[in-house]
Order: sequence, then structure tokens, then C-alpha cells
Amino acid sequence: MTKPRQYHITTFGCQMNKADSERMAGILEEMGYHFTEDPYAADLVLYNTCTIRDNAEQKVYSYLGRQAKRKQEKPDLTLIVAGCVAQQEGESLLRRVPELDLIMGPQHANRLQDLLEQVEGGSQVVATEPIHIVEDITKPRRDSTVTAWVNVIYGCNEHCTYCVVPGVRGTEQSRYPEAIRAEMEELGRQGFKEVTLLGQNIDAYGRDLPGTTAEGRNKYTLTDLLYYVHDVPGIERIRFATSHPRYFTERLIKACQELPKVCEHFHIPFQSGDNEVLKAMRRGYTHEKYRRIINTIRNYMPDASISADAIVAFPGETEEQFENTLKLVDEIGFDQLNTAAYSPRPGTPAATWDNQLSEEVKGDRLQRLNHLVAQKAAERSQRYAGRIEEVLVEDQNPKNPSQVMGRTRGNRLTFFEGDINELKGKIVAVKITEARAFSLTGEAIEALVTA
Ligand code: SAH
Ligand code: SF4
Ligand code: F3S
Repeated sequence: MTKPRQYHITTFGCQMNKADSERMAGILEEMGYHFTEDPYAADLVLYNTCTIRDNAEQKVYSYLGRQAKRKQEKPDLTLIVAGCVAQQEGESLLRRVPELDLIMGPQHANRLQDLLEQVEGGSQVVATEPIHIVEDITKPRRDSTVTAWVNVIYGCNEHCTYCVVPGVRGTEQSRYPEAIRAEMEELGRQGFKEVTLLGQNIDAYGRDLPGTTAEGRNKYTLTDLLYYVHDVPGIERIRFATSHPRYFTERLIKACQELPKVCEHFHIPFQSGDNEVLKAMRRGYTHEKYRRIINTIRNYMPDASISADAIVAFPGETEEQFENTLKLVDEIGFDQLNTAAYSPRPGTPAATWDNQLSEEVKGDRLQRLNHLVAQKAAERSQRYAGRIEEVLVEDQNPKNPSQVMGRTRGNRLTFFEGDINELKGKIVAVKITEARAFSLTGEAIEALVTA
């Protein structure tokens, strides 16, 4: 008997890529491949790539260089680049790394088996043409047995001047609510407890699907979707990401308050606290509108946790404009903020402008913003001290095996003493004894839900 071929996937980038990787892993397992942690022991290596910033892209090239060398000694190695760099670079990747067997854009993830059959037929394959995403009929190999991603809308139709996503992920394609619910029901049956609904601009959900209501609204919206899926048996928590301030509605906020399974956590990137910069980014809202959204959320749910993304040193950003971002961060008090220095990306308008800022300014502003973020997050975190929080246990604490870890409804990572075999997938009431900026420690009081 021959040894089964082993595969390895390394995933870069956002949750969409993670979800795609899980589906591709599922396809490979159905084809008889076995997973290996070690990329240098595998017979098939797949890099699922990200190109949101230049450093994300460069990382892939260094990994690929080593694998290309390995392939010279091991000609039966199958080498695949999937995801957003694959989509962006397409055939030019073949010139850069001639050892590649397959280059496949994100829209082609579910076609992996098909594409591999073409590779086995002896071709180098490039699959980057825009297609209608075929519904996922295979079984994903999910990384967790407790929490799962569920795509609700693929692609993005916005035109943020810095961003590669619309170019690499294509135009918006929503899944029908029935398909989403069916996937969640299956997850519920398999014992999953938490689902995160995914979209690059999840507020756009449904606008590409046909039909309007009597009031003239789109027949399908994210709010309606939440009402439609919130009672799926077994699923105890529902999250969604990423929200766009331009389309965020009060109806959605009300739904989150009303539906007990929907967690009080909102991830709403603002990118900049300055209206001129927002305009140059073509974001379609002002900082005043952003503040109104946060106020409305806090009126309905005073304790809601708020996270966001921000970019510093966008082309032309003045010191004063940057200070408006600091001001917004100071005044809102985010529970978490992902920050990045602007990175010019191929094919985006802002990359061609002649008012780019120096690396020095980028580094300086990023550091000042991060400092403020950590300080504010630590302040926000203090509200948890002494409180009892519901924690859904996901895993053992890798740094301390006598502890388990999970997340509060507000998405704070929380550690406490406990046995993972007994607690995995359970929601536990935990008294918080220590609150750090981005994580908590506590003591279990009782398991609220038994599986
Ligand atoms: N769809 C989401 C986020 C998409 S990308 C949204 O609209 O907010 C994730 C984050 O990467 C963005 O929120 C932004 O903060 C950051 N980002 C995107 N393009 C970037 C670029 N060219 N340089 C630096 N950061 C960027
Ligand atoms: Fe990029 Fe803007 Fe779309 Fe977000 S909304 S993915 S930042 S283009
Ligand atoms: Fe990166 Fe593509 Fe996501 S560029 S952030 S992996 S959509």
C-alpha cells in the first residue's frame, strides 16, 4: 500500500481566507490527502495568500522561494498559490516562480478538486477569471469544533481608494438565507456553539439578490437574516463582521438588542477620524456619522463592545488630520482597534497619488496611535473586573495547560482554571479577577449550558 499523500495549508490574511482554507482542506481530505503541520514534509503545499498590505504579500514570496527549491529535489511536490495574491498577480506569478502548479483566485476555492485534476493531467493552471461562486457542497475541515465561520456575502462593491479587496474578491455575491440557515443547522447538529457570519461589507448583504418588500426595501438584508437564523438549534451565539458605517442601520442595532443569541460586539472600521481624509478614502461617511452610530449602539446596549480598523498616514494626511484620528479614538474608547500604516497597493487610485508620506511619518503615527489604543483598551477592560461574564470555552490555554480559554459575549479572550475535556464547547459563568488591555483572567462559577 502506498502512503497517502500529505497536504499542508498556510493561511494569511482575514477571516474570509480562513474560511476558504477550511473548505479547501475539506476538499483535499475528501480526495484522500492527510493533513500535516509541517510544510516541508508535505506532498502538496497550498499558500492561501493576502495582499492587503505590501508586507503580507512579501511574506509569501519568501515561503515560495524555499518550496520552489524543495521541488527541484522532489518533483512530485504540488505547489499551489491561492487567495488574493494569486488573484492579483495571476500569470505573472508563474514567471516569478515557474515551479508553481496552480494559481487560483478566491472565487475558485470550491473548485480545488477540479483544478487539481487538470494539474494531474500535466498542466500548469491559472484560475483567476471572475465566476459565480459555486455553492459549497463539500465538508469543510474546520479548525475549531466550537466556533465556525459562515460566509453570507462574497466580494465587495465599494471603491475605497486604498483597497485591493474589490479587485481581488470581485463583485458582491450574497448567498440565499436558506443556504446560510442550512449550513448553520448542520453546524448545530455537529455540536458547534458559535457562528460568525462573514462578509467584507456585511451590511451590503442581500442587495444583489432579487426582490423588494412592500415598503420598498430590499427583500433580503442582514437584519432580516439575523431574525431568520437566530433560533437555529444548538447555536448559542451569533456574531457578524465586518460592518460598514456607510450602510449600518438602527434596525440592525435593534435586532442585536432583541435577539439573545446575537452578541453585543460590533466591529465597525472607521479608518480615519478626519472628514477630508475620509473623503479622499471615498468611505462615504463623516466622523460625525460614525460617532452617531456608536452613540446609538450605546443607547440600546450601554455595555456593547466596539472594535474597529484604522489607517494612519494615508496620502496627504496632515499632522492635524492624524490628530483627529487620535481624538476619535480617545473619545470613543475602543475595546480593540486594528491599526496599520497606509501601504500603496497595485491597481488602487491612492497608490498613484504624489502626496505619499515617508516611512518615518508612518512609523511615528502608528506608534502614537498604538500607544493610545493600548491605554484606552486597558481602561475599557477595567469594567470587567469583578463582574461575572459568560465565557464559551474553545480550547486549552497553550501557555498554561491547567487553564482553559474562551471568549466573553463582548469577544474578550478569557482564561480560567479548568479541564478542557470537561468544558470544551460549554458556556461557563466566570468571575473576572484580572483585567488586562486585551484579555481577562477569572474563576469558574458554574457551567450554564451543558451540551
Ligand atoms: N471590509 C472592511 C475591511 C477590509 S480590509 C472594511 O471596509 O473596513 C481590513 C483592513 O485593512 C481595513 O479595514 C483597513 O484598515 C486595512 N487596509 C486595507 N487596505 C489598506 C492599505 N492599502 N494600507 C493599509 N491598511 C489597509
Ligand atoms: Fe476594502 Fe472598502 Fe470594500 Fe472594505 S469596504 S473591503 S475597505 S473596498
Ligand atoms: Fe487579505 Fe484578501 Fe482578506 S487581501 S485581508 S485575504 S480579502
